[in-house]
Amino acid sequence: MTMTDEPLDRALDALHFDHGDRPTLRFVTCGSVDDGKSTLVGRLLYDSKLLLDDQLSALEAESSIAGSSGALDFALLVDGLQAEREQGITIDVAYRFFGTARRRFVVADTPGHVQYTRNMATGASHAELAVVLIDARKGVITQTRRHSHILGLFGIRHVVLAVNKMDLVGFDEDRFTEIAVEYRLLAEKLGIAHVQCIPVAARDGDNIFTPSARMPWYTGPTIMAHLETVDVSGDVASRPMRFPVQWVNRPHAEFRGFSGRIANGTVQRGDAVTVQPSDRRSHIARIVTADGDLDAAVAGQSVTLVLADEVDVSRGDVLTSGAPPLVSDQFSAHLVWFDDAVLLPGRRYILKCGSATTGAVITTLKHSVAIDTMEHQAATTLAANEIGCVNLSLDRPLVCEAYADDRALGSFILIDPISHCTAAAGIIDFALRRASNIQWQTLDVDKTVRARLKQQKPCVLWLTGLSGAGKSSIANLVDRRLCELGRHAYLLDGDNLRHGLNNDLGFTAEARVENIRRVAEVAKLFIDAGMIVLVSLISPFRSERDMARSRLAAGEFIEIHVATPLDECERRDPKGLYRRARAGQLPNFTGIDSPYEAPEQPEIVLDTAALSAEAACERIMAYLQDHRYV
Ligand code: ADX
Repeated sequence: MTMTDEPLDRALDALHFDHGDRPTLRFVTCGSVDDGKSTLVGRLLYDSKLLLDDQLSALEAESSIAGSSGALDFALLVDGLQAEREQGITIDVAYRFFGTARRRFVVADTPGHVQYTRNMATGASHAELAVVLIDARKGVITQTRRHSHILGLFGIRHVVLAVNKMDLVGFDEDRFTEIAVEYRLLAEKLGIAHVQCIPVAARDGDNIFTPSARMPWYTGPTIMAHLETVDVSGDVASRPMRFPVQWVNRPHAEFRGFSGRIANGTVQRGDAVTVQPSDRRSHIARIVTADGDLDAAVAGQSVTLVLADEVDVSRGDVLTSGAPPLVSDQFSAHLVWFDDAVLLPGRRYILKCGSATTGAVITTLKHSVAIDTMEHQAATTLAANEIGCVNLSLDRPLVCEAYADDRALGSFILIDPISHCTAAAGIIDFALRRASNIQWQTLDVDKTVRARLKQQKPCVLWLTGLSGAGKSSIANLVDRRLCELGRHAYLLDGDNLRHGLNNDLGFTAEARVENIRRVAEVAKLFIDAGMIVLVSLISPFRSERDMARSRLAAGEFIEIHVATPLDECERRDPKGLYRRARAGQLPNFTGIDSPYEAPEQPEIVLDTAALSAEAACERIMAYLQDHRYV
């Protein structure tokens, strides 16, 4: 969350806490238009309309300042996936506000179409309860199952099953009971513990606000009576305390506080707290708010905490008490894929969790999840709106929780570093043991010592370009020249590596991502050994080349675009591969039916259509000498 969200944070707090007698219930509606969803939501809004007060209107005004469309901007008020909007992916979820004397409500209205898993997931991850609509004539249908699976996955524990259109089944009690029994069985399997089934006729208002005279056999609450009284608080206040630090508040030398919202648990003045991931300890000296100091505060409240000692705390750290949180750099998680660009295991993304941000790689896609049945299916990629189970490896340890324990610290988003789009929303299942069991061994002889022995500055000369562009010929000449100069160099050639280290990889996008990742890791090892490394690899994806660069220190990665045009490569066709690709005998051939993303700012560009291999080699040697690598 950025500083600019501050007014929205305050607005959310106003919504939650300035009216202790009227807490807010956030719920999501699922069902299709045919089931009467719009009618039901419309009724709730209409019948409570007169109760909408000034404060709520003020809030609506405030939230619309932050963005363009009034309804969607309210989504920013609600925890969790705000960054997806900062990043510009439009999730089609409309948030509506209404209230009664007892409670305020935020309802996330998500489209019912099959393809919008991501919208449902977004709505569900913000909600405490779901209203699932069923057409009494149709009963529990595939879509009901699909929606309920997503609700279960995203931690919804309270469902109101609104069995609608009871008038069209003659207000038949048996029909209602039959549907209720079937749904309860489903909910139990999905871990949805609390189900309230209510027979309604939304169009006429039966059992919405007023008990229906036409269904005297039903003695339970109306929809509104239930929404007004249901207790969804769970045990949030008694959970271990978690306070993700959003920013360090230091207005002057005498004051240093840590601002954020309490994600879980209760904090009291005097409490012992631990700062994670550094594991430093202190006590709470003050709990500061705009309205003065507090003795205690609970989950959901935004406060500034002042510690008794001068410990090092920065944005992204988490103040904790009680059982320790998870601190790990490897996780198993479920993802809902948002992006139109498919998930590729091995590719790097930016992960945001709470107020922490770090680089992340999806190391394994374990399986995808069939949305209708929740069955596991073998998968190599995920497309938009698909759900998958993955392992993630992060650049540094993250302080977090399993989603089942803490929805704020257990959820995250992945951002594509190039497009800046939200690629996925995820929930953490558990930390992988290997993360805590494997440590980095520091070696006494380091890169500097090894490089000095060889009297050279280690670097990677990364030659990228189409097949037949001349990468290997040029790299081979440079390798020879370096050798003649008494330098220690080594050539990692794509074709050669595919005979050994990479002989399990083909040419699909995901195989190439893995190919490039492995070569980048090997190149990094060679750099550590003090070598000058030549890499000759098509490496068609910008994202992975950037990844290779980011794994190294500044100046160690020299990107060389061997920019021979496609028609020239095809004319040369030294291995006859273009001919075969054009004949349809070689699928996924780079430049033909598989993309090549040219570098945007390479250190060196060589067009071999205009330059001999020898001249290209000279250009590289000149670069190395000018920049004092050799
Ligand atoms: S990369 O895309 O994963 O970086 P790499 O450089 O390792 O590719 O391997 C490319 C070499 O494999 C080419 O020089 C070519 O000889 C051969 N090859 C075989 N099939 C393909 C294909 N479908 N696309 C590109 N190159 C292929």
